[in-house]
Amino acid sequence: MPTTLSSKGLAVKSSSTLEITAKAKAMRASGIDVVTFGAGEPDFPTPENICEAAIKAIRDGKTKYTPASGIRELKEAVSKKFKDFNKVDYAPEQIVISNGGKQTLHNIFSAIINSGDEVIVPVPYWLTYPEMIRLVDGVPVFVQCTKENNFKLTAEDLLSAITPRTKAVIINNPQNPTGTLYTKYELETIGNIAVENDFFIISDEIYEMLSYSSKPYTSMASLSPEIYAHTITSSGVSKSYSMTGWRIGYSASSIEVAKVISSIQSHQSSNPSSISQYAALEALTGPQDTVRHMAEVFEKRRDFIYERICEMRFVTALRPKGAFYLFVDCSQAIGTRYRGERIKNIKQFADILLNDFYVAVVPCADFGMPKHIRLSYAISEEEISKGMDRIESFLNELL
Ligand SMILES: Cc1ncc(COP(=O)(O)O)c(C=O)c1O
Repeated sequence: MPTTLSSKGLAVKSSSTLEITAKAKAMRASGIDVVTFGAGEPDFPTPENICEAAIKAIRDGKTKYTPASGIRELKEAVSKKFKDFNKVDYAPEQIVISNGGKQTLHNIFSAIINSGDEVIVPVPYWLTYPEMIRLVDGVPVFVQCTKENNFKLTAEDLLSAITPRTKAVIINNPQNPTGTLYTKYELETIGNIAVENDFFIISDEIYEMLSYSSKPYTSMASLSPEIYAHTITSSGVSKSYSMTGWRIGYSASSIEVAKVISSIQSHQSSNPSSISQYAALEALTGPQDTVRHMAEVFEKRRDFIYERICEMRFVTALRPKGAFYLFVDCSQAIGTRYRGERIKNIKQFADILLNDFYVAVVPCADFGMPKHIRLSYAISEEEISKGMDRIESFLNELL
């Protein structure tokens, strides 16, 4: 029948994170005081200097098409950021500016995957990776990581998942949803395995500036010339500069890969918004004090939310080392009774929290972890405190 839709399109799950955020927003709009731990974005406004740069770009008439892969000045600024912050040399020609980290990752998968190629995805994972891989006819190969290893991929895990079809492994550092942070040695181990077995490492570093370690952040591509050659780095300004709505991300890779990414983008979307590119240029070249301030505030909130969760029954959590997520193991709560009803799964757990206690959390079944929830602490300490009181009241009711 001519109106049949594509089976690939129909198979895509819509993002449960965005759904829960939308539901909580709708409840708020109807006057209910919902505490939202769902959002994957900083609660800070975009810094004033960045907004001003965008306004200036409009006034200066920078409102036309730019080169599909982005303006030269921004690529140069990204190149300098890589040199100064990541200790990696990427020439502007190796960089492609896209519509957020999401398009960047989609471009990367499109550039390297042939039908049936496998991408190793450590579990838990950011829910978008498997959908993106399938959209380009790739096969996500899931590797379960353990709590004992802070949900990080080990050499044994990685080696056991390699097949002749392995095209890449994806590493997100710091990680969504666990807040885990890889050490230099752990990254080196993964990188060397990829080199020895000749597959790509896609290094998603979107949360790079939100690490709470006293040690400098380690980028995969900085580790050795061989690892550099096998790495495609993905990052952007969304999380570091509180610019989620502006949609600017970027990839850094070999020139060969960058050319393919650029060609794909030239037909798919052309350049990302010219105005946002000038805003991102200011973000990267202007004062960096707001980034530091944001990271300090997140760290304080991290300590606060982690202490609160540790006091509660039926739940445990790892102390996050980066990003702004607390990953909570609720397995002890599954199977308990709430007001006479048995809690069967994590979705029901999250639904009760939202409907009866007005707290929005992200159930992590779509992140590969069906007994966990993710709490984003990108909300004020006051809201965190109120929300944690409500979660505690719920847990105290469980029998
Ligand atoms: C792990 C990870 N990578 C990439 C992205 C994409 O970010 P952007 O908003 O720039 O598309 C996100 C956003 O939530 C993320 O959590």
